Amino acid sequence: MTTGPGERDERILVRLRVNGVEHAVRAEPRESLAELLREKLRLTGTHVGCEQGVCGACTVLLDGASVRSCLLLAVQADGHEVTTVEGLASGASASHPLRRAFTDNHALQCGFCTPGVLMTAYELLSTRRGLSERDIRVALSGNLCRCTGYQGIIAAVRQADEQWERDVPDQQHTDRQH
Ligand code: FES
Ligand code: FES
Repeated sequence: MTTGPGERDERILVRLRVNGVEHAVRAEPRESLAELLREKLRLTGTHVGCEQGVCGACTVLLDGASVRSCLLLAVQADGHEVTTVEGLASGASASHPLRRAFTDNHALQCGFCTPGVLMTAYELLSTRRGLSERDIRVALSGNLCRCTGYQGIIAAVRQADEQWERDVPDQQHTDRQH
């Protein structure tokens, strides 16, 4: 946005680290983190559905914890570390068991919900292992999918749970070293 003569620029400088890369971006006071990620940083893997905190499509990690980026103001991310679904697709994460498991189990159809589901599952598997089907269903209960019937998603997370430590013993640590 440009300002005309006599107009004040009310944008606020936000410094944040996204997928290991430092950014300094001017954001409108009411701009959401989802908008900043998609429109200013061109990280369009984060999807926006309901924009009301209901569907989970916009889920990203803020300092390792899942948040609805449609509900978080961009300015609230100042000084924090954000991980988006693109962060699961880079560098050492390219063969991440979660990604493989989603392919193996046909856990997506249109893919609209998938980035949010992946980020929620990533947070879950980064902190807990040996998950039951109920554990996975509860953790993913805030991520709505209108296509899959969830069976493939549950199977994928169970597979990733089994393969996680064998394939990526220190994945999360590796991701945060950039
Ligand atoms: S777009 Fe954020 S929860 Fe639906
Ligand atoms: S795969 Fe279409 S909404 Fe989940």
